[in-house]
Amino acid sequence: MAKRNRKFIDAVLLTLFFASLLTTFFSKNLHALAGVFFLFAVWIHNVANQNFYRTLGKGNTSRKFNQICIMLFGTSIILLTVSGVVLFFPNVKFFPNVNWLSIHLGAAISSFGLMIIHLLMNASRYVRGGKLFLATIFSIALITAGVFGLPYLDRWYHKVEVNRAEIVDGEKVQFGGKILTVYFSRVTNTDFPQDVDAVSGASIMRDGEEIFGNAQMIAMMVQDATGSDLLAIKTSKKYPASYSETTKVAREEFSNDELPALDFRTKLDAYDKIILVYPLWWGTLPKPVESFVKAYDMRGKILIPIVTHGGGGIGDSVEVLKKITDAKVTEPLDIYSSDISSARQNISNFLSNAD
Ligand SMILES: Cc1cc2nc3c(=O)[nH]c(=O)nc-3n(C[C@H](O)[C@H](O)[C@H](O)COP(=O)(O)O)c2cc1C
Repeated sequence: MAKRNRKFIDAVLLTLFFASLLTTFFSKNLHALAGVFFLFAVWIHNVANQNFYRTLGKGNTSRKFNQICIMLFGTSIILLTVSGVVLFFPNVKFFPNVNWLSIHLGAAISSFGLMIIHLLMNASRYVRGGKLFLATIFSIALITAGVFGLPYLDRWYHKVEVNRAEIVDGEKVQFGGKILTVYFSRVTNTDFPQDVDAVSGASIMRDGEEIFGNAQMIAMMVQDATGSDLLAIKTSKKYPASYSETTKVAREEFSNDELPALDFRTKLDAYDKIILVYPLWWGTLPKPVESFVKAYDMRGKILIPIVTHGGGGIGDSVEVLKKITDAKVTEPLDIYSSDISSARQNISNFLSNAD
């Protein structure tokens, strides 16, 4: 095939890759369609560059490195395709315990990075000196943006269809003492409009007409595992329906060191253990959770933190907890927001050892 035609196919391939990424944030069907076109372009690209297979394992170190990147890129594309098909047909239960969403996101990130390395390696054959240096810097910047930016965008636009009964039910744990599971979640402190899907970056879990927060879903799993009582931390004020507006309000709370008022008062005397489930906010403990913890004398109690997050882990939230409570704070469990629907067994395992 003529070099010009090959370049055209590469340009189409690249455009379709970015189209597949972008459509994630608009529509599932559009995303799938862009994905199918992208796969078709990958196939044509393979046919046009068959020579690659004939020269596999040959050439200098840089060529071999490029070949390894291409093979890894191919593996990522296979993972992307399989996970994409499983996610597109949720009723077909294919390895239901596997977290296909995380695999899909991970494969998208690695494909993105490997594709840029592959492009750079090819460019290095034609471009030299300052231009190659600039292209390398630009590639590193793009890869960094992909590695950190894609999970960040995923966190914002996280909208997951779940079957609550199915994901909450699981292995029960023998857990001594009287237990209370307390959770704080954005969803239970927000008045969402009827058409919640139209809200910018809604970041919610949905089971039919009902919507759930991540921490809320985890708290329900904990309740199912332990048979504990369940309590939601509710603030007097409501948070904005828009995800980005909520992050701004939260940032204000941190900079003003504001402790939001809570609209309930419960007695904790009867409980020996409190399992506290909360999302990581700005790398730390959300202010409403601080309001809750500071409102009680928890001497003699055991506090078990479970943190849900978008990649930041527990941040310094557990350190903050230890400073503001007299309770004995145990080792925490952290759960990545894309892993919620498959977290049930992990929660039982954690609680079996936390007692
Ligand atoms: C105000 C705000 C701040 C956040 N800050 C962080 C953060 O610093 N690091 C992180 O990994 N995730 C952060 N997240 C993401 C949440 O921790 C994550 O999406 C969590 O699973 C949400 O739980 P929820 O649905 O129960 O509120 C933030 C979310 C919000 C709303």
